[in-house]
Amino acid sequence: MSIVDKLKWRYATKKFDTNKKLSAPQLDQLLDAIQLSPSSHGLQHYKVLVIENPGVRAKLREAAYGQPQITDASQLIVFAAETNMDEVYGKNFISLIAETRSVARETLGGLEGMVLGAIASRTPEQRVLWAQKQAYIALGVLVAAAAALGIDAGPMEGFDPAKFDEILGLKEKGLTATVIAAVGFRADDDHFSKLVKVRRPKNELFIHI
Ligand SMILES: Cc1cc2nc3c(=O)[nH]c(=O)nc-3n(C[C@H](O)[C@H](O)[C@H](O)COP(=O)(O)O)c2cc1C
Repeated sequence: MSIVDKLKWRYATKKFDTNKKLSAPQLDQLLDAIQLSPSSHGLQHYKVLVIENPGVRAKLREAAYGQPQITDASQLIVFAAETNMDEVYGKNFISLIAETRSVARETLGGLEGMVLGAIASRTPEQRVLWAQKQAYIALGVLVAAAAALGIDAGPMEGFDPAKFDEILGLKEKGLTATVIAAVGFRADDDHFSKLVKVRRPKNELFIHI
């Protein structure tokens, strides 16, 4: 299957087969894809929670308008944006680059100035929005990677972030729930899998200049 065929195969799964679980290597590949997601400056301004605990998931389902994907999928992935992006976060990131690429930290002064400037130029609220945008990119990468691997995914923003933050103790971790995805395998009788995709025509969607 071409990548386009795989993207046609995928759909936002509403009904998961509760008996089918991702294997450990399948889950690892999805997490690899998320880890490799691009982000502004490479800052990865979020953390990603992989939730399997049935009791926690039951509570989260209540905070997500009862959506069954929350409890029935193999795993629930929560993308939580950083709420405390500060100079220290930026500096730690520059140290990670120096370590990973085995270069002296002092040689990264220009990059450090740019990254710290990008953080300092934003208000705390703008920093959270900035982080949330990056979380959505990671969601997109997850959804596409899952399709490529023949794994089903249901992206969702139909949930109460404040309640999620409370249930998962995210506030004290400097995080806020932003967007979520259920991953697993579709139930045979999920009628959404049979629906024809509705997409705006290319001549309305694309502008070639
Ligand atoms: C960011 C985002 C949030 C979404 N939230 C929900 C949701 O809360 N519940 C749901 O059933 N579907 C949700 N969807 C699925 C969309 O409705 C679906 O992707 C869209 O209708 C296109 O259909 P398809 O993905 O099956 O091709 C969401 C999708 C995205 C990308």
